[in-house]
Amino acid sequence: MNTTNNSVSLPTMMNAVVCDEFGPVENLLVKSLAVPTPNADEVLIQVHAAGVNFPDSLLVQGLYQMKPERPFIPGNEVAGIIVAVGKNVNHLSVGMRVIGLSMLGGFAQYVTCKMTHVMPLPEAIEFDQAAGLITAHATAHHALVQRAQIQPGETILVTGAAGGTGIAAVQIAKKLGATVIAACSTPEKLDFAVNQGADYTINYTEQNIKEEVNRITHKRGVDVVYECVGGDIFNQCSKSMAWNGRLLVVGFAGGVIPQFPVNLALVKGYSVVGVFWGSFTMHEPKVFQQNMKELFGWLINGNVTVHVDKHYALADTSAALNDLNHRKAKGKLIVIP
Ligand SMILES: NC(=O)c1ccc[n+]([C@@H]2O[C@H](COP(=O)([O-])OP(=O)(O)OC[C@H]3O[C@@H](n4cnc5c(N)ncnc54)[C@H](OP(=O)(O)O)[C@@H]3O)[C@@H](O)[C@H]2O)c1
Repeated sequence: MNTTNNSVSLPTMMNAVVCDEFGPVENLLVKSLAVPTPNADEVLIQVHAAGVNFPDSLLVQGLYQMKPERPFIPGNEVAGIIVAVGKNVNHLSVGMRVIGLSMLGGFAQYVTCKMTHVMPLPEAIEFDQAAGLITAHATAHHALVQRAQIQPGETILVTGAAGGTGIAAVQIAKKLGATVIAACSTPEKLDFAVNQGADYTINYTEQNIKEEVNRITHKRGVDVVYECVGGDIFNQCSKSMAWNGRLLVVGFAGGVIPQFPVNLALVKGYSVVGVFWGSFTMHEPKVFQQNMKELFGWLINGNVTVHVDKHYALADTSAALNDLNHRKAKGKLIVIP
């Protein structure tokens, strides 16, 4: 650790999940690798919990917009303890409990993170809760606050509402005073969304979204859609918008990127608004940090919660990714390295 000004005694080797070549998540292997060294602007975190996200699975399969050099270690969000800091790092120190946005490398016992993407973690928050809060809740927060600028009294429709970022959107929209319609594929998931605050539900395997939105809103349409699924679900949402609405493009968990007829936006006077939280953290790191502070406060006050559906050992990371791929998760899945 010769680039650091502050470190503890560390092992030289660690266990990490490695993607040698793009392919099925079952191909991931746990290997023994050298513990990474932080550069001048980074810290090294001993990982206590790593959140599992849909994009991790896309990355491993080579289906994500970013295609890392192989081999690589997947995993983009961690909570843990700083064990070394680079020479330019002044506001963070060894021994601090932190969250880190690593982009890659999180499914490992140690990971380096840029200092701009590491934040002190309040004592009141457990590591697994913190790891689960980062991408899912922070995406929903950024989407609703900065992108949609949602207002109290507005109505929002959330698709994939029992998933990681969907359930976060349900909670945050309620916190911000909106009326929430949760859309999911099973009664069990819809019950979960109601328990987390949703006011109305739509089962999109059995019901038509536009018809149900018209019934619930008395034909007004919804002000905001938080759209995570894509394909025909997006198409139905695009016909369910209110005047001045904001249709948030968040993800394509169903695997189909929709094609959008722009005349719909013209005729109904609404906006289609892209959300790319990872890119936002790079473009606006200070706003990202302010958002995280607000989320920590909401978590401590009980305004939002992280529902951890299941914990996995590092060796079972591929099982965790498979459970997401097969729509088995409600809320978050967490790997404990
Ligand atoms: N734009 C951003 O910055 C950003 C950030 C984070 C995540 N995302 C994207 O947002 C989406 C949701 O992410 P997440 O982490 O919340 O994932 P997740 O926990 O797996 O939730 C995704 C939900 O999508 C629904 N879904 C519909 N068809 C599916 C299919 N074929 N396979 C898997 N799920 C399907 C499922 O709900 P039902 O079973 O109820 O349909 C599932 O609960 C992903 O596309 C992800 O890439 C985007």
